[in-house]
Amino acid sequence: MIPFQLPKANIPEPIDPETQVWAAKKDTDRKQIIDLLLKGDQVLVEDRFQTGLDLLASLKKNVFFNHKNLQFDEERQKRRIFRDASNRLLIPVEKQRIALKNAPEIGWLAKFYPENEVFFLPLPQIQGLNSSWQWYVKGVHFPTLDVEIHPYYGVYFPTRFEHLIIFDKWLKNHRLKKSSALDLGTGCGVLSFMMLNNGYEHVLATDINPNALISVQENAVKQQLEDRISLMQSDLFEGCNDRHDLIVFNPPWIPASKNEVSGGINDAVYYTDHELFTSFFEDAVHFLKPDGELIIIFSNFARINQLTDHHPVENELEKGGRFVLAERQTMKVKAGSQHTKRVDRRLDEEVELWVLKKSDS
Ligand SMILES: C[S@@+](CC[C@H](N)C(=O)[O-])C[C@H]1O[C@@H](n2cnc3c(N)ncnc32)[C@H](O)[C@@H]1O
Repeated sequence: MIPFQLPKANIPEPIDPETQVWAAKKDTDRKQIIDLLLKGDQVLVEDRFQTGLDLLASLKKNVFFNHKNLQFDEERQKRRIFRDASNRLLIPVEKQRIALKNAPEIGWLAKFYPENEVFFLPLPQIQGLNSSWQWYVKGVHFPTLDVEIHPYYGVYFPTRFEHLIIFDKWLKNHRLKKSSALDLGTGCGVLSFMMLNNGYEHVLATDINPNALISVQENAVKQQLEDRISLMQSDLFEGCNDRHDLIVFNPPWIPASKNEVSGGINDAVYYTDHELFTSFFEDAVHFLKPDGELIIIFSNFARINQLTDHHPVENELEKGGRFVLAERQTMKVKAGSQHTKRVDRRLDEEVELWVLKKSDS
């Protein structure tokens, strides 16, 4: 039993159908619609779902025209313009279904908006709900787990597995029976389930994102592991009381740009401030048993793309006083697709597994 009241999920905010919008259909002048979206006006798709997808594709072409070999920051800027304009392209929802021809069926609409008769949602949000629903129904297979995980809406789950593979190897080499672990920033819970399958009796899984906790709870019940996992919505160690044999944190790896929206899945990828890591190490030392291990999973992605020189673990070790390095492992990330026009920013990427112990242990 999970002694925890599940939080309310973060879901896309429905838009009032009385909102002022322009209408778009298959034959509406596409250039005009793109200009309206870029200028800041909202446009409602009124005939087929495909009209929305076509408009989105034209908008993308317009924003990213001539975008080869952009610096990471320039690319980020274009992505922001596209994100803002595309979120003004609206889709009507009626009685928990998309009110357009040939639209996908999305189960989340009935779960999230049982009361709302008619409202609008931005097309990118609809796409997010749709792909999340597909993963939720089908499940995601990870090479380090025997059963699929069914991630809830708005929850980060890994699509590359190198960090799971090195963590799995580490767990298998440290198979001594251990009593408790803390999975800080659990996301879809993949690391928690790996620990429970590799000798840990009990895991406390925490996350700042409420949807992550709903996700882990549902999956724990599916895997009949709910007696061995506790959940807590928390910012870092807020609300933690006990000390653990192992604390694992796979934090966001990329410093956020000024315009990055925080919250939800973005908090899984971007960190706004180095303070996140300073506070993490400050508190971690109090919640680790004397001979416990602290694992941080990280990547050199931000460094190799010149986004920062700062490396939170190296900085902590250089400062000294709290932790010493027990082990460090790295694994090269598989190169991206050869067919994409984008620069492969992962060409020299390595994921890193850092194992620290308390300095005085
Ligand atoms: C890169 S994801 C890792 C998820 C999962 N542990 C994994 O390895 O797939 C980072 C996770 O940390 C969570 N997170 C970010 N900032 C946090 C904070 N201050 N406190 C708790 N969790 C946080 C995010 O919501 C996200 O689920």
